[in-house]
Amino acid sequence: MSDPRAPWTPSTWRGFPCTQQPVYPDEAALDRTLSEIAALPPLVTSYEIEALKAQLAEAARGERFILWGGDCAESFADCTSAAIASKLKILLQMSLVLVHGTRRRIVRIGRFAGQYAKPRSTATEVRDGVELPSFRGDNVNRPEFTLAARTPDPQLLLRGYERSALTLNFVRSLIDGGFADLHHPENWDLAFVKHSPLAAEYQRMVDAIGESLRFMETLAGGTIAAMQRVDFFTSHEMLVLPYEAALTRQVPRREGWFNLSTHLPWIGVRTSDPHGAHAEFCRGIRNPIGVKVGPDTTPEALLTTIRMLSPDNEPGRVVLVSRFGAHRIGRAFPPLLRAVRDAGLAVTWVCDPMHGNTETVVPTAGEWAGKSVKTRKFGHILAETEQAFEIHRMEGTVLAGVHVELTGEDVTECTGGARGIADEDLSRAYRSQVDPRLNYEQALELAMLIARRAAV
Ligand code: PEP
Ligand code: CO
Repeated sequence: MSDPRAPWTPSTWRGFPCTQQPVYPDEAALDRTLSEIAALPPLVTSYEIEALKAQLAEAARGERFILWGGDCAESFADCTSAAIASKLKILLQMSLVLVHGTRRRIVRIGRFAGQYAKPRSTATEVRDGVELPSFRGDNVNRPEFTLAARTPDPQLLLRGYERSALTLNFVRSLIDGGFADLHHPENWDLAFVKHSPLAAEYQRMVDAIGESLRFMETLAGGTIAAMQRVDFFTSHEMLVLPYEAALTRQVPRREGWFNLSTHLPWIGVRTSDPHGAHAEFCRGIRNPIGVKVGPDTTPEALLTTIRMLSPDNEPGRVVLVSRFGAHRIGRAFPPLLRAVRDAGLAVTWVCDPMHGNTETVVPTAGEWAGKSVKTRKFGHILAETEQAFEIHRMEGTVLAGVHVELTGEDVTECTGGARGIADEDLSRAYRSQVDPRLNYEQALELAMLIARRAAV
């Protein structure tokens, strides 16, 4: 491990073991692209980053609840008005349900505007005896199985930066233009929702909030400005370090370095080694840092990581995202939770009920009969969330939020939920290039469950 107080620059990570990096055949071309990105304006500001950190610290004290969600991987092709708006709509609807149920302010964080690089379990993929680099996300290479498509292309980093800026620009404009105004929740309706079994319950919440708002405004004698806009923050897995370094900057009148590619970068389970390059890189930036915690995480490694990232034990700085799976959380989580609690470390705990619950099924009927499909059972996602609440309650700690993979579209990628999607239904609308996401109804149903659970 590097000494938490050792000198740091955006390139000290190069002296540490670095996994999950694309291998670029033309390093000079990579350097040219990185210099170009380094000269372009940042995507977010240090003010926003510090504001998020303060909100994450509040969430750890139970004063706010974190709703963190979006695609497993964004794709350049989905950088469209409809896809961005529908993602925002479902997150806004979920946050409305959560406000209503938890009576807490919500911290909204999207897995978007930069979630373009994916870790892979193998560096190469073999098909019919041909071995090519694995697809690592739109920021790195292209999914088609040809040498040209799979060779990492530095230009894609620039395209990814631009797509992130386009996404963020549209999100900010929608929000500033009144899209997120609580007086007009009808803006967030998705066309197919009227037919949802959950529609009536959702409508009751919307009406109740509208009524409270009108009541408060009658008392206050005007509109409550603070209710008209909401904050939205961005996050992505901080994976391709040369890209992250190109957007890591110093800013006037603030100390230290900020990764200005996103508000909340996170370290995935495959790169979470405290002795590795990703931890070293994160040590020197002032952003809050997400760290995924899974069945392979040891208490020693976790404590080392936290102390390294937060030598001053700064509230809001470290966000631990537990992702064990419904069958393992009961056994694997409490020892880690206790170790962090007993060491007196200030962290914000969030539950990711998705990544420990991925499985492969083989539908017996329908278009995909006999084929292996990656899915998640909604029942397992609910069960892990339930258990996370319960374990935190028993240990006297706070579950500050959830981290989910979802889409505002009507996809069939996870089974179960209000409409009881079966393995045989998966072929109907399976669009994810990577992990299966909750569809609109499943996401809303999860929010309703959390709202009930968090209100206890
Ligand atoms: C992810 O969040 O998409 C991911 C790959 O998660 P994890 O690192 O927890 O497997
Ligand atoms: Co994923």
